[in-house]
Amino acid sequence: MKIAIIGAGYVGLVTGACFANLGNRVYCIDSDRKKVEALAKGRITIYEPGLQEMVKHNLGEGRLSFSTNIKTAVKKSDIIFICVGTPSKDNGEANLLDIENVSREIAKNVDSYKLIVEKSTVPVETGEWVKKTINAFRKKNVKFDVASNPEFLREGTAIEDFMRPDRIVIGVESGRAKKILFELYKPLNAPIVVTDIKSAEIIKHASNSFLATKISFINAISVICEKAGADIEKVAKGVGLDRRIGRGFLSAGIGFGGSCFPKDLSAFIHIADRLGYRFGLLEEVEKINEEQKARITGKISQLIWNIPGKTIGVLGLSFKPNTDDIRNAPAIDIIERLLRQGAKIKTYDPKAMQKTKKVFSGPDKKKSVIFCRDAYETARGSECLLILTDWNEFKELDFKRLKKLLKQPIIIDGRNIYDPSEMKRLGFVYTGIGRHI
Ligand code: UGA
Repeated sequence: MKIAIIGAGYVGLVTGACFANLGNRVYCIDSDRKKVEALAKGRITIYEPGLQEMVKHNLGEGRLSFSTNIKTAVKKSDIIFICVGTPSKDNGEANLLDIENVSREIAKNVDSYKLIVEKSTVPVETGEWVKKTINAFRKKNVKFDVASNPEFLREGTAIEDFMRPDRIVIGVESGRAKKILFELYKPLNAPIVVTDIKSAEIIKHASNSFLATKISFINAISVICEKAGADIEKVAKGVGLDRRIGRGFLSAGIGFGGSCFPKDLSAFIHIADRLGYRFGLLEEVEKINEEQKARITGKISQLIWNIPGKTIGVLGLSFKPNTDDIRNAPAIDIIERLLRQGAKIKTYDPKAMQKTKKVFSGPDKKKSVIFCRDAYETARGSECLLILTDWNEFKELDFKRLKKLLKQPIIIDGRNIYDPSEMKRLGFVYTGIGRHI
């Protein structure tokens, strides 16, 4: 099939590369000229396992191309996926201006039947707006369909998630649209849930909100575990083995981050409010998430006493492992909090250093944040070591060496990657999340 992908961000780029890899001809469009030039040479600006190779391979095979020219892509394609960003406005509502602009551009250039699919996470009723916009601005009186096909891929495992999804959701209004999308997704051999457009839009928001709720729920339980002297890891295992609940997304930590959960949650609260329902449950999920970040700085002062002037070693910056993405990363928030309290930071992350350097590039912050070569350089002369992202390489460190390098043998494990009794045996003062030793 011939496919246009409008917006070569995370979702657009992975979707485009995967569809090309399945044998389709994919035209990827982005308004950022520099990005397009880099992509056309097979250089991608994000770290996602396997993506660079897949993009290069499909460029070479002539199945994938990048351009800023939406007009040609629309004309050449049968299916057009809208994958542009929907950032948050100051009040938490999703900003849909880019979706509107893209819809107008598509409308001006349709010259034969097209299936226009929203893949970006959008508020319910966006599909209707896209349809109205295309009807109002199309130059030729050709037929078209709008569909919703939300994406459920996670950063760090994006290709695997795309190629082996638990389910594919398609919200359609016509048999023709349904048939095209069934055909397109046939090679994935995954269950397909067919709904109306509005239900598909809500499935995406409800899924992300439910997962975020699981995380805040377990984080709240972790507070009770700490107070009662229980172990959250054992509690999560015991709870999660109930198949009705499931073990996934029950890892307590420093809170969820990333470009999706925080943004989608506040957008969903906003949508509900607009529809006349106050989603108090999700407001509490947000609140617990914020408190979890504040709690970690409390743990530091409990162990090292006064924070001002002290050097804190931070391992992990990205919002989760296997990505260099630091958007809404709890680690960045925690570092900001520590800097405001007068701490100095030494830090290391396997992939996210470059992006973090840009955040702390101001003269004051630059002096207070030192970027290190590895975990050991981070530990040298630091008062304690803070684990903020559960990268695999942090699970296998030389603890004897770390102990010698730190001023005090204190580890604050924001992701519960170590065994508390083993840490104690090695002579560390160790504290995790919701664990009692
Ligand atoms: C999330 C969803 O998982 C995807 O299904 C969805 O497609 C995507 O958002 C999106 O809307 O585009 P992602 O943001 O890539 O994917 O990352 P997750 O793996 O969901 O992790 C989100 C955050 O929750 C991370 O900060 C992670 O550390 C945290 N988390 C996750 C926990 O604190 N505990 C857990 O048990 C699981």
